[in-house]
Amino acid sequence: MNYNSIVFKLGATIFVILTAVILPLIFTIDRLIARSYISDAHRQIHQLAEQYSKTLARQGAIDRSSLQTAANLTGTEICIIDRKGKLVFTSNDRLFRRGTHVSRELAKSVILKKEAQIEYKNPINHQTYFVSGNSLHLFNQVEGRLLVFSSSDKIRKSVDHLELLVLASMIGALLLASIFTYVASKKLASPLLQMEKVTREVAKGKFYRKVDISSNDELGSLALAINDLGQELERYRKRQKEFFANVSHDLRTPISHIKGYAQVLHDRLYKNEQEQDLYLSIILDESNQLNALITDLFELSKIEGGQLDLQFNWINIHELVENCFLKVALKAKQRELRLYKELDGKIPFVYTDGVRLEQILMNLLENAIRYNKIEGYVKVKGWVEKKKVHLSIEDSGVGIPDEDLPFIFERFYKIDKSRSNRMGSTGLGLSIVKHLVYLLEGEIKVKSKVNEGTAFHVALPFQLKREKVTTKIGNE
Ligand SMILES: Nc1ncnc2c1ncn2[C@@H]1O[C@H](COP(=O)(O)OP(=O)(O)O)[C@@H](O)[C@H]1O
Ligand SMILES: [Mg+2]
Repeated sequence: MNYNSIVFKLGATIFVILTAVILPLIFTIDRLIARSYISDAHRQIHQLAEQYSKTLARQGAIDRSSLQTAANLTGTEICIIDRKGKLVFTSNDRLFRRGTHVSRELAKSVILKKEAQIEYKNPINHQTYFVSGNSLHLFNQVEGRLLVFSSSDKIRKSVDHLELLVLASMIGALLLASIFTYVASKKLASPLLQMEKVTREVAKGKFYRKVDISSNDELGSLALAINDLGQELERYRKRQKEFFANVSHDLRTPISHIKGYAQVLHDRLYKNEQEQDLYLSIILDESNQLNALITDLFELSKIEGGQLDLQFNWINIHELVENCFLKVALKAKQRELRLYKELDGKIPFVYTDGVRLEQILMNLLENAIRYNKIEGYVKVKGWVEKKKVHLSIEDSGVGIPDEDLPFIFERFYKIDKSRSNRMGSTGLGLSIVKHLVYLLEGEIKVKSKVNEGTAFHVALPFQLKREKVTTKIGNE
């Protein structure tokens, strides 16, 4: 027997509780029944004593033979004593001998009290009796008292019998309760054991294993939670696999280009200097691409690993946007794009991490430039609403199809390979942006129309609830 098992613990608890409740209950019931039995017996002999003394009073004399018959018929004993306690009549010589005195103790209780009801142990036959005494009036004079004796042994025996019955039923109830408890706790423990087994298998990588419990209670919801956990782990592992596949693919592509063109240059397989320059610039571009990918990966792993320490300061949004514009000005010029900003003068300083906020803006601006049309525009708007600073980065670019919108914040999600093959595209930018916005306690939304343009909308609180945080996202 495993004393630590739930079956034992639950069973023992229920058993102890039941015993603690049933035992005193049964004791009380037993007392109550015994008492009512005894008081019934008292009442009966009291009525008899009353009846006999009335009859005798009516007759005016002691009719010994009818008294004897009455005693025999009712299974009681009748005695008559005079005022001094001397025995005048007894239906049973073994109870008292005629002419003797009843014991002083008995005489006292049945003579002094008008209606005495006592329990009396006869020293002659060693039997215990319930006794009831009544005054006896003969010729309107108090002649003495009539006593009715009823053996209490019979009643005691009935009470004992009853007690035995009660005890047997108690043992029966406890036995039944024990069986019920055993069955109930086994029933309770079996889904737990099943859940333990499935959880261990899921931990070993068998994510398809499911707990088969559909009850509508806590156990049911625990089973559901375990199944959800298994599903979530399966999804996580799938994502992880995809992630490594993406990383290795995206690393291998530029490396193989670099290797190939370096080999061509090394073997001097180019026709002229122009071709040599072209190959060199391809190597340079691919190195940049590799660099971008490694930087983004490193950034993402830092954020997801919760190793990003935020540095908080009061940030001037106007200056921040201006700074970003300066950084992307050249790229914008190369693509003949105009950069606008429409910032509300009321935007206050914001207490946030300036470096991270700039990273967010730079990512969104670079996208707005990269996925724009020639001679288009990029506009940054800023305003204050509901105690938040709102920034929107709009472009006149190619737009994002509706079916792709829900996924663009996922790692490595690129809409169409041909356009994302453009240099610098890693598919990680928006994923980083989403994490950073979350870290700065903000929100990000996107609206887009194909061939018209895209608008990313970021809302940030004036001041963060926590000042310095080391956060964990993704693998929390
Ligand atoms: N402003 C935008 N206009 C159109 N498409 C966009 C824009 N921003 C992002 N996208 C699309 O979403 C994809 C994911 O963006 P991102 O995560 O920044 O990766 P990437 O490194 O490709 O820029 C991009 O490949 C692009 O197809
Ligand atoms: Mg990007």
